[in-house]
Amino acid sequence: MYWSPSGLYEVIIHSKNESVSQMNYDLWAKKYDGDCSAFGYVVPQEVAKLCTKYVKNAETTTLLDVAAGTGELGTYLRKNEKFIGEIDILDANMEMLYLASKKNLRFRNIIRHWIKGEIPLPSNSYDVIASLGAFLPLHLPPSALQNLLTLTKIGGILIFNTRKTLSASYDEELTKVMNEIQENKRVEILEKKELILLPKVNAKPSVLYVCKKIKEL
Ligand SMILES: C[S@@+](CC[C@H](N)C(=O)[O-])C[C@H]1O[C@@H](n2cnc3c(N)ncnc32)[C@H](O)[C@@H]1O
Repeated sequence: MYWSPSGLYEVIIHSKNESVSQMNYDLWAKKYDGDCSAFGYVVPQEVAKLCTKYVKNAETTTLLDVAAGTGELGTYLRKNEKFIGEIDILDANMEMLYLASKKNLRFRNIIRHWIKGEIPLPSNSYDVIASLGAFLPLHLPPSALQNLLTLTKIGGILIFNTRKTLSASYDEELTKVMNEIQENKRVEILEKKELILLPKVNAKPSVLYVCKKIKEL
């Protein structure tokens, strides 16, 4: 039942709790890439282009893909954008990470970590951090946005997308965190664009943000 194109994503978001959501990813992992392409999911391609638009494509450039899943962003970075920088990927799910690890994409670090609060990585260490399809209930908490900014270098780029999730409290909390970082002038929004998440199965919109980190809190 989890694989039905129109229902799958909703099942994962509306699982009973975080453990069940992760178990659903265990089950989905092997079908994830095929389903994404069948659903017309183009966010990783789009974000790979934005990464090379905003940061130098150099061996010393560092990128962290948060909630990287099967490493789709890495695929488009290496294959389409010919990105030569260092890529670290982080996710809570071993099945998804295992498949990412098999893709021969020269990841520097593959990190298994469930993000709840602070992330055990050095502050100000990445030129670009991307997190796609993960600001959702039972996934990343809205406060993770602040933590991801802490890991981003000043002048570095944070790219993420959000969607209306049917959980009013989650959406309100995420809006609150986004307002806070903008009011504090911690970031400058370089681009904000609407994308249809899964064009071949439904027309749910998602908003993609490209932010530049201006200063620490
Ligand atoms: C919809 S998938 C997106 C994967 C990938 N970014 C993409 O766009 O194809 C969401 C991913 O977020 C991961 N995830 C969810 N909650 C997490 C958390 N709190 N910490 C780390 N990873 C999490 C899941 O394991 C899953 O691999």
